[in-house]
Amino acid sequence: MESYNHTNNKNGRNSQNKKILLSKQRQELPIYSARENIIQSIYKNDTTIVVGETGSGKTTQIPQYLLEAGFVKEFGTSIAVTQPRRVAATSIAKRVADEVGTRLGDKVGYGIRFDNCFSKYTKIKYLTDGMLLREVLTDPLLLKYKVVVLDEAHERTLRTDILFGMLKTIQKKREEMVKANAKKKKNSSKAHNSQENGNSNNFNSMPKKHIMFDQDNENQNDISLKNTKPKNHNPDSTDNDKKKDDTPFVSKLKIIIMSATLDAEKFLQYFNNAPVLYISGRQFPVKTFYTYEPQSDYLDSAHTTVIQLHLETNPNSGDILVFLSGQEDIENLEKLLKESNLHLPQYNKICTAPIYAALPQKLQNKVFESAPPHTRKIVLATNIAETSITIPGIKYVIDTGVHKSRGYDPRIGVESLLVEPISKSSARQRSGRAGRIDHGYCYRLYTEDDYEKLEENEVPEIKRRQLTSVILTLKAAGIDDILRFDYMDAPSKPAIKSALLELYALEALDESGNLSKLGSWMAEFPLDPVYSKVLYESVKHKCTSEALDLVAAHSVESIFFSPVDKRHLAAEAHKQFQSIDGDHWTVINLIKAFNEYKLNGTKVVIFDQDSADETPENIESEGIYEEVEYNKEDGNKLEAWCRKNFINFKNLNHVFKVRKQIENLCIKMGIDTTTSCGNDTEQVLICLLSGFFYKCAMLQPDGTYRSLTGSQTVHIHPSSTMFRKRASSIVYDQLVFTNKLYAKGVSSIQPAWISIASPRLYGNSNF
Ligand code: CDP
Ligand code: MG
Repeated sequence: MESYNHTNNKNGRNSQNKKILLSKQRQELPIYSARENIIQSIYKNDTTIVVGETGSGKTTQIPQYLLEAGFVKEFGTSIAVTQPRRVAATSIAKRVADEVGTRLGDKVGYGIRFDNCFSKYTKIKYLTDGMLLREVLTDPLLLKYKVVVLDEAHERTLRTDILFGMLKTIQKKREEMVKANAKKKKNSSKAHNSQENGNSNNFNSMPKKHIMFDQDNENQNDISLKNTKPKNHNPDSTDNDKKKDDTPFVSKLKIIIMSATLDAEKFLQYFNNAPVLYISGRQFPVKTFYTYEPQSDYLDSAHTTVIQLHLETNPNSGDILVFLSGQEDIENLEKLLKESNLHLPQYNKICTAPIYAALPQKLQNKVFESAPPHTRKIVLATNIAETSITIPGIKYVIDTGVHKSRGYDPRIGVESLLVEPISKSSARQRSGRAGRIDHGYCYRLYTEDDYEKLEENEVPEIKRRQLTSVILTLKAAGIDDILRFDYMDAPSKPAIKSALLELYALEALDESGNLSKLGSWMAEFPLDPVYSKVLYESVKHKCTSEALDLVAAHSVESIFFSPVDKRHLAAEAHKQFQSIDGDHWTVINLIKAFNEYKLNGTKVVIFDQDSADETPENIESEGIYEEVEYNKEDGNKLEAWCRKNFINFKNLNHVFKVRKQIENLCIKMGIDTTTSCGNDTEQVLICLLSGFFYKCAMLQPDGTYRSLTGSQTVHIHPSSTMFRKRASSIVYDQLVFTNKLYAKGVSSIQPAWISIASPRLYGNSNF
């Protein structure tokens, strides 16, 4: 968390100047002239669709306009703004907190998985769509929000799509409640001539021309909210006998759909003819270039293009933005560019600024800051910079034409995350980023023919992703008829069927498809159901400590560090942690070894919010200290230990942070999190299988494996400790497809354990 503190401001005048500057910047945004129209439209309509060029000010300004116009004056009410990516939620919240002049977490905050930064005073909360979906489980009518903004609607992420349907229902229910409350009040207040009728919280009842301004006094109207539990809650039961204080504070729900580009017709039809406001942007022409030949290595091409552009154009003309597929691409290109920079003249250097979903908050600011003198900034971004985040000062865009896309094949049960070509619509957005300050240039690292072959738009995620987790959430939110849910685009029946079957096999649903007790328990965790199942079973097997290690370890790509040039040394170093049972125990061994060293070698305190201000500064590994707090000496010792053993210190700390949070949840649910099975590997593997029984494969005579679901031929990935070993059967974390289907994160298991782990799926089978 940022330790931004008013009292720490050394120079009050600086802060005042900053405020004036920000206020001026706000007024210069294209959206500013539409301010009154936007407020009026939202005020008059239940749902408003706002379409506006990236950078016009939708995400940062509209919530502030509503705040200033008094939409969330009552104590405990606020505006939620969803973002598909966590890095957008955190960085935009930070910017808006600065603009509002508040500490991040006070009036403006954010909520992302495993990291919350808001309080009961928060008025504008940026959160991931997944987080808002989870909030529906504890606050089924989202009563604390008077306005919900679904941003980046054109991205059509799985969770935003589900929220479309849920919010429509919530809006309708809240309207009915407002009406019922009004009727009730009218009846009961005939005697004392009420001037504040039941619609006092209904914006439509406000005088048309009168726009209210916030008096900055949130406590003036102290109405506490009732947190209604899903099952007990019946929105229709406005009980006339209840005392006045028991009436929940209910207002109509305003929905705002925002996007840079969208199929307005489709959206307005879905949202009952909601008005569409178009915000005109300030876009300069962008000249687009294509390569003559297809490029075999886009990273290499990107590298060459950056250096060529940098040398051939005036370094003061503007910065360069490169679109890449993900963190790995970004890190690789960053390395290449840093090497090239050594050979550039002193007066004409470059500096890199990466931005991708998992980038720690402390490192995000670099993209918004200007480069040092005589240096040009090269921003390396994923598609996050397409529409979610506007980076100032860009004149040149280099588009590799790829992104990472999630897919799922319900037939064979394989999920994928593959580098794939983008859509035409994405390509247009990417080139648009070059035209914000002046005429711009976009270099597409593919041929014009290849551009023509791209799809117009990407298929919505709901049609290509595994649905298990969202269906569990829908069920937990009381939506039983999954097939008849109000989808904008319905998922395929086989995908729904396969998700229901998996939930049944996990015992989250009963025979009739209703949520079981275990299912509601599982839905409490912000985890994929397979992981919450593992935690649940760990109680029985008395290995919760190890189960927590494993579940948390899944939050990062890998804890091990194997640089290409030192792969052999790394493999040697990793041998000491290796378990004959495979990768899962290898991870547990490593965590145990680290903890052991920590205990004996150093004293370490896991980060907690209260001590954020004491976070040490100026230590080499920037970024990690928001995850775990060490004193400097211990931090250095632990980092050295990790370096020596080829362990990714940053990722390991992230694992500990996530582990702590899941552990806290377990404790809240009454689980003893200290149980450990010592070295009894069998207990942990059986427990793991209780969630992962779908991900098993049996050895074939030719040394390959055959997956139990889908009967695919599977090979063990070379990165696994089980590579070139033969086990009669295996369990794996995931299958990845490159030239063959590979299993990653593999452990050896006994075939007999599989039917024990999932009696519902394999109970009667004979292996
Ligand atoms: O949502 P939309 O794309 O319409 O724009 P926005 O995200 O609200 O951004 C409005 C302006 O704020 C842009 O010019 C950004 O460059 C600027 N901004 C910034 O300078 N720093 C941030 N951290 C976020 C936004
Ligand atoms: Mg935006």
